[in-house]
Amino acid sequence: MVVLHQGPMLKRKSVAQSRNNSPANNASTLSRLHIDTSRLYRDSVGTEGVERSEIDALLPELRSVHQTITNGSAGGLEAEYACLTLHDTMPESLAPIEAMAEQLGRFENIAVIGIGGSSLGAKAVHQALDMEMSGASQPKLHFLENIDPRHLDRMLRNWDAEKTAVIAISKSGGTMETVSQYLILRSWLDKQLGTNKAREHQWLITDPSLGWLRELARREGLTSLSVPPRVGGRFSVLTAVGLLPLAVAGVDIRRLLAGSAANAARCTSDDPRDNPAMEMAALFYLLDVKRDKRLSVMMPYADPLQLFGDWYRQLWAESLGKRMESRPGKPPAGTLPVRAMGAVDQHSQLQMYLESRCDKIFTFMAIDDWEQNLPIPVSEADRKYFPYLENKRMLDVLEAEFRATVQVISEAGHPSMTLRLPRLDAYVLGQLIDLYQRATVYTGLLYGINPLDQPAVEKGKKLAMHLLGGGH
Ligand code: PA5
Repeated sequence: MVVLHQGPMLKRKSVAQSRNNSPANNASTLSRLHIDTSRLYRDSVGTEGVERSEIDALLPELRSVHQTITNGSAGGLEAEYACLTLHDTMPESLAPIEAMAEQLGRFENIAVIGIGGSSLGAKAVHQALDMEMSGASQPKLHFLENIDPRHLDRMLRNWDAEKTAVIAISKSGGTMETVSQYLILRSWLDKQLGTNKAREHQWLITDPSLGWLRELARREGLTSLSVPPRVGGRFSVLTAVGLLPLAVAGVDIRRLLAGSAANAARCTSDDPRDNPAMEMAALFYLLDVKRDKRLSVMMPYADPLQLFGDWYRQLWAESLGKRMESRPGKPPAGTLPVRAMGAVDQHSQLQMYLESRCDKIFTFMAIDDWEQNLPIPVSEADRKYFPYLENKRMLDVLEAEFRATVQVISEAGHPSMTLRLPRLDAYVLGQLIDLYQRATVYTGLLYGINPLDQPAVEKGKKLAMHLLGGGH
């Protein structure tokens, strides 16, 4: 699918754009994520790319997978693939989330405790939209994901308990990293405020009926929200797990869901040429099983998307890195997701990307319209050293670096795709989230594995518990 785009250096309107249709159509087209998969195909990148005939040969499987997803998405929150219809099911639950966000608005510091899928989505959107949020009157969110005693200790020394709240998030309600940090914060709040008042500073997001957190919410009458039981952690950013912290931070969560809905509407066809999530899945799957691509490098040319790369890394790895029980003798499923960053990794990883093994698929990301774009002042005296910087802005440099990397990677024969975000806002991020969640489910089903479970990680969790003196 080739999509023409205009980067910062090319702001002129095309004739087609000038003869636009309705203003509404124009607005949604302008906010649409631009997906260019052309460099994943052999006719563009050479032998390491996918032949269009290989996609044609996969059509029966693609249709069958599409049917499975369509059937498994019917039934709202009870459906197997409830994670793909949250833009339809969550709007009903937004009022309590927004009301709680308002209550939380009175605090200065909010510790958002959770790990993996109970943290990464909110963290990624929060980072991406940081500049968009008004800031001054909003509480400051502090994501406590990893165990870091120094970090937490410093926070507790500097925070005023009166102005501090905790949102503890765990679907299972008992994840060790989350529980231990929450217990420390609870005890600190208790000591500073007294037990009764401390309870008014705690919000829980967990399973509606099971687990320690749910039991605690019942026992102590703590305010809580539920994670839909059929929605797994890494697919839960569009539930209360992501929406409550994001609403507190001032993100327009309705636009986030609207963006997700817009991408879902773009992915209803059972033909990969009209369904970008399906096309991406087909291409990544074929590049793994037919071209031995084992790494999937996501390289945004935008600092605000750094944590989006972490969210993707977890979504892709935990969903797809599995033994294919149904295909004995075949290598395990999944391309290892790698997060890189443009332009800095041009000075770090790019050498290896270009000349080492041809075992990678690249996804380059860029933002078309940034609100800030400082001019680069080049004095008369410096002009002879940097004539190419004269009359340029920061984004001209970033865009040139982006295009140069896309081109050299392609000329070296590596398959790559580009995603251009028209701007960084909740609507565009919602599209991106839906695209990746959907593509992950399609890809998992193509491999013949269950993308929604994570059987292998349980063993390590149990062993850690055992090492701490707990039972098996
Ligand atoms: O995607 C997943 O299922 C995991 O990454 C979980 O989100 C993570 O292990 C945290 O689990 P919980 O929300 O139960 O604390």
